[in-house]
Amino acid sequence: MALEFTNLLELEDMARAKVPRAIFDYIAGGAEDEVTLRRNREAFGRWALRPRVLMDVSKRDTKTVLLGERVSMPVCVAPTSFHALVHPEGEVATARGAAAAETILIASTISTKPLEEVAAAADAPRWFQLYVYRDRAVTEELVARAVKAGYKALCLTADTPVLGRRERDERNAFTLPPGFGIANLKGAGLDGMPEVEHGSAFAKYVTDLLDSSLTWDDVDWLKSISPLPLVIKGIMTAEDAVLAVEHGAAGIVVSNHGGRQLDSTLGSLDALPDVVAAVRGRIEVYLDGGIRRGTDVLKALALGAKAVLVGRPILWGLALGGADGVRAVLDQLHTELDTAMALAGRANVKGIDASLVVRAA
Ligand SMILES: Cc1cc2nc3c(=O)[nH]c(=O)nc-3n(C[C@H](O)[C@H](O)[C@H](O)COP(=O)(O)O)c2cc1C
Repeated sequence: MALEFTNLLELEDMARAKVPRAIFDYIAGGAEDEVTLRRNREAFGRWALRPRVLMDVSKRDTKTVLLGERVSMPVCVAPTSFHALVHPEGEVATARGAAAAETILIASTISTKPLEEVAAAADAPRWFQLYVYRDRAVTEELVARAVKAGYKALCLTADTPVLGRRERDERNAFTLPPGFGIANLKGAGLDGMPEVEHGSAFAKYVTDLLDSSLTWDDVDWLKSISPLPLVIKGIMTAEDAVLAVEHGAAGIVVSNHGGRQLDSTLGSLDALPDVVAAVRGRIEVYLDGGIRRGTDVLKALALGAKAVLVGRPILWGLALGGADGVRAVLDQLHTELDTAMALAGRANVKGIDASLVVRAA
C-alpha cells in the first residue's frame, strides 16, 4: 500500500513506531540541548509571506537549474548516512525515489551502499558529499571514484571536524549493528565502527578518522584533484561565505547540519540573509535545516536561496515506504510548493523574490 500522510511533520511520529529506538534517536536527534535543532524550525515562523493576487497563476512551473542540472523543483535530497539502517535497499532506494521525483540526490560518503551502486540505481543527476579522511590517499580515491561514477558535483561538508555531542547517541551507545558498514570505505578497511566502552562508537569513528586539521588551503587542494564543481556545506556566516567565493566554490549550503553539530547557533534560515548579502550573486546558495513545508521552501527562496535540501523526512519516507516513500515525501513538498506559489501569486521560481517575505516578529 502506498505511504499515506497529510504532511511531512507527521512522518516522524509514524517512523517512531517502526524504527528501532537507537536508530530513531540517531536520525531525529541533535547535539546537546537541541537548541539549534529547534531553532531551525522556529526560524520559519518568524517570516511571513506577502501574497500578490490577480497574477494569472494558471500555468505554474516549479522547475529550476542547479549548477547546470535541470530539476523538477528547487528541493534536493540532503546527504544523510546509513540508509540501510531503515530500509534493506538503503541508498539505492533513495536514489530511485529522488530520480522518480526528478531531483538531485547528494549521496553521503558514509553510506551503507557503495557510491557506484547508488549511481547505477537510476539515471539522474547526483552529487557526492565528501568527508575528508586523515589519510589523503583514501580521500583522493573517494573523489576519483565519484568522478568516474558520474557524480556531477562534490559537496564538501565543512562543519564536522569532530562529531557534535549527540547525547541521545551517547546514552544509546550508538553503533552500527552487525552486518552494517560504511560501504565506500570497505576497500580501505575503514568500514567498521570502533569498539568503545561507553558512548557513541560513531563519534569515535569520526574523531579517529576524519581530518580535523582542514583549512581553506585544503579547499584549494580538493579543487586541484577534482574536475567537478565544488559545493561547501555547513556555512553559517558571511565571513565564510566570502572565503568560499574566493576559494572558487561553485556553491555553498547554509546549514548547521540539522542541529547535529554545534549547538546553540542560529537556525539556518536566520543565517541566510547575511550570507546571501555577502555572496552578492557570485555563486549559488542553498539552505537546509527544518524544511518541512512548501511555504518553507518559498521563504528560503525569497531570502535568496537557489534551492533547499531536505534531510530527515527523506529517511522517514525511506523507512516507511522504500523508494516509493522517498518519492512520496518529495512529491508532497512539490505539491505544497506548487500550491503556495499559486496562492502567493508566483507562477514560476524566478518570480520568487525578496518582496514575498516580511519579518513577522
Ligand atoms: C541521520 C542524519 C545523517 C546525516 N548524515 C550526514 C552526512 O553523512 N553528511 C552530511 O554532510 N550531512 C549529514 N546530515 C545533515 C544533512 O545533510 C542536513 O544538513 C540536515 O539533515 C538538514 O536538516 P533536516 O534534517 O532538518 O532537513 C545528516 C543528517 C541526519 C538527520
